[in-house]
Amino acid sequence: MYRTHTCGELRINSVGEEVTLSGWVQAIRNLGGMTFIALRDRYGITQLVFDENTPKDIIALANQLGREFVIKITGKVAERSSKNPKMETGDIEISVSDIKILNKSETPPFTIEDETDGGDELRMKYRYLDLRRNPVRKNLELRHKMGQEIRRYLDGERFIEIETPALVNSTPEGARDFLVPSRMNPGEFYALPQSPQTLKQLLMVSGFDRYFQVVKCFRDEDLRADRQPEFTQIDCEMSFVDQDDILRTFEGLAKHLFYEIKGITFNETFPRITYDDAMKYYGSDKPDLRFGMRFYELTDNAKGKGFVVFDSVEYIGGFCAKGCSEYSRKQLDELTLFVQRPQVGAKGLVYVKYNADGTFKSSVDKFYSQDDLKRWADYMEAQPGDLLLILAGKKSTTLTALNVLRLEMGDQLKLRDKDKFAPCWVVDFPLLEWDEETKRFFAMHHPFTSPKDEDIKYFESDPGKMHANAYDFVINGVEIGGGSIRIFNSDLQQKMFSALGISKEEAEIKFGFLLNAFRFGAPPHGGIAFGFDRWCSVFGGSESIRDFIAFPKNNSGRDVMLDTPGKIDKKQLDELYIQVLPVQK
Ligand code: AMO
Repeated sequence: MYRTHTCGELRINSVGEEVTLSGWVQAIRNLGGMTFIALRDRYGITQLVFDENTPKDIIALANQLGREFVIKITGKVAERSSKNPKMETGDIEISVSDIKILNKSETPPFTIEDETDGGDELRMKYRYLDLRRNPVRKNLELRHKMGQEIRRYLDGERFIEIETPALVNSTPEGARDFLVPSRMNPGEFYALPQSPQTLKQLLMVSGFDRYFQVVKCFRDEDLRADRQPEFTQIDCEMSFVDQDDILRTFEGLAKHLFYEIKGITFNETFPRITYDDAMKYYGSDKPDLRFGMRFYELTDNAKGKGFVVFDSVEYIGGFCAKGCSEYSRKQLDELTLFVQRPQVGAKGLVYVKYNADGTFKSSVDKFYSQDDLKRWADYMEAQPGDLLLILAGKKSTTLTALNVLRLEMGDQLKLRDKDKFAPCWVVDFPLLEWDEETKRFFAMHHPFTSPKDEDIKYFESDPGKMHANAYDFVINGVEIGGGSIRIFNSDLQQKMFSALGISKEEAEIKFGFLLNAFRFGAPPHGGIAFGFDRWCSVFGGSESIRDFIAFPKNNSGRDVMLDTPGKIDKKQLDELYIQVLPVQK
């Protein structure tokens, strides 16, 4: 027998019992005649003690131990003379009477501690050691618990879990596909699913009514902290529903998770913001609503006073940073440099300090009187003591820059508390998005999303004007999920394909199976998919989804532990009729 208890289990009421524990040596402390060892497993740490009562041969064995050795010990539970209230097992220790080394360990390349000395790359190379660390293990435990609760809720709502294949054809979600060559069909390729989108729609045609799947999706796109090439979706679809039914059902899921995982009750329905308002007031389709600072447009208010910068632009707007009128020259200069970085793209920053005494000090005092500035301040709902931050330029880029500045101010004012949660729905997305480079429309969500009934009339005359029955679920400025009510009629689907510049023939080749299915009694349907990794990271208070994935890839899409992707030998390539060309630098 390897163990009677885990290393996190024993308490004061077990004093006097003989127990056997197995685990890893976390730390060894030699204090004169006494040796203390911290023995660790997934459940916790228990202190082992070797002293003058310990048999000599056992002490000799204990002296051979090193960090991360795997050992089995037997001994008596004793009350500690100096208790450690920070440890759950801190009232007791084990007086060891027998010890067996189950396996030795080389010295680990970084310390297996909460705060480790290992850098990112090293920890990823030895990810199995990194996973021994408490914070990382806890992240995966959180993920497990969320997965369980998601299944429990959806099962209770009559959803059934159905697996769909990973070797499929291209699923247009806006990224590049990962391709898999087929040996049995030389020269032909599968694509890994960017999502099970079309398959879940077919399941609705099959009559399954409520489907879900915890499913791996694959997208070959540029990586960021919240993007991995393979990630997990909680993918859902429902029949005979409208947008409201979907939002209600999945708001239920979100509230269930908030309560079960974070202990937070939301009594109110989550705010629903239209895409147009989200862009107008926050410059983002994923607004962080943990704090205010919404934007006010000043275009009409601020023009015509001889300030050429403002007079020549499409848009002027800003927001009010509460209590910041004391910002120093240096702080304002830093903010100006911040918005001028190429990633933010603003030309400059205009500030107006609303001093505590009711006067104004601004970077544009030359052009605007105290009365002008008071008018701006009133319009922007500012009080004495506040600071107005204003940007101007092309409308879309200025709103985007204001968004970045707003988030920066949120950080500076510590308003983006990771333990505070502000969920919302963003609804009524545009159906199509114009791409200047290729001079064509793209589907803002995906080509299976239905337009609003009242907008269908614009399909030919003004496609860019159409809004979609599409929605995103956002928490704290992170897009957690997105979905839509689908087109379920082949004619309308054909119209959508042609608006996207996909010819009838091409649509038949790529999506013939779906168009066919729609001819056999497709029910009205819609759905949503949540990014499971992202939801875990927001609940876990981290910006990086990698912390919640057991074996993640780095920013170049590499798994440095498996050292993959890698080269394939010629024999394998020949079987696939594939020739690899030299890389052109
Ligand atoms: P969408 O493309 O919006 O919708 O994806 C749904 C959610 O998946 C997450 N996500 C990602 N997470 C990590 N890494 C990535 N590379 C990544 N890409 C997306 C996001 C996103 O909100 N088929 C539709 C859903 C539907 O219409 O039902 C879809 O996939 O959290």
